Amino acid sequence: MAKPSQVNGKFVVLGVTGSIAAYKACLVARRFMELGAEVYVMMTQGATKFVTPLTFHALTGHVPVVDMFEPRTDWQIEHVYLAAKANLVVLAPCTAHVIGKIANGLADDIVTVTVMATQAPVVIAPAMNVNMYQNSIVQENIVRLKKLGYIFVGPTYGKLASPLEAEGEGRLAEPEEIVEQAVKLLASPRRLKAPR
Ligand SMILES: Cc1cc2nc3c(=O)[nH]c(=O)nc-3n(C[C@H](O)[C@H](O)[C@H](O)COP(=O)(O)O)c2cc1C
Repeated sequence: MAKPSQVNGKFVVLGVTGSIAAYKACLVARRFMELGAEVYVMMTQGATKFVTPLTFHALTGHVPVVDMFEPRTDWQIEHVYLAAKANLVVLAPCTAHVIGKIANGLADDIVTVTVMATQAPVVIAPAMNVNMYQNSIVQENIVRLKKLGYIFVGPTYGKLASPLEAEGEGRLAEPEEIVEQAVKLLASPRRLKAPR
């Protein structure tokens, strides 16, 4: 079980993307907060269709970044600010789309720019439809990212959101599990390498 001493004062950047499981990112943010982390949220435009920036603002005390071109007053106007400050970047949930962008070196939103620019370890918790997850392009992208040092938590087999599939592979790992795995990595830096 993660202890506050492992997390206290760490700057955790939580990336939320456009998955039906986006609401569970609130629980991930909450758990990191309980453990004493400073949590900053970045969201894709897609993520805002599922959960509002206001929710994360209220939970973390910081206004999430959605539009990297929008000037901010609470920190330097720097699209790589989060990347530079992060001790850990956690993408939960992470869509097939964002996995594909990262695997192919694309950086056209705050989440993918931050992932590309950071020297911190990046934990990815995918969530998607079972057929999307089993798609060979998605699988190849995941293999590629694992080889490059990205750390995956889940997805798991279980009940999926779509009424078309009762259950399958592609379910977001439980929020507590995502935080547990991320904290374990934080606690043993030798297992934790920045993706390259
Ligand atoms: C209701 C609904 C649920 C979705 N859930 C997922 C999901 O769990 N995982 C996923 O990869 N894409 C999902 N998508 C598709 C993504 O939202 C879509 O690929 C979008 O472009 C992702 O944008 P982003 O990756 O920039 O956040 C869903 C779409 C809809 C309409």
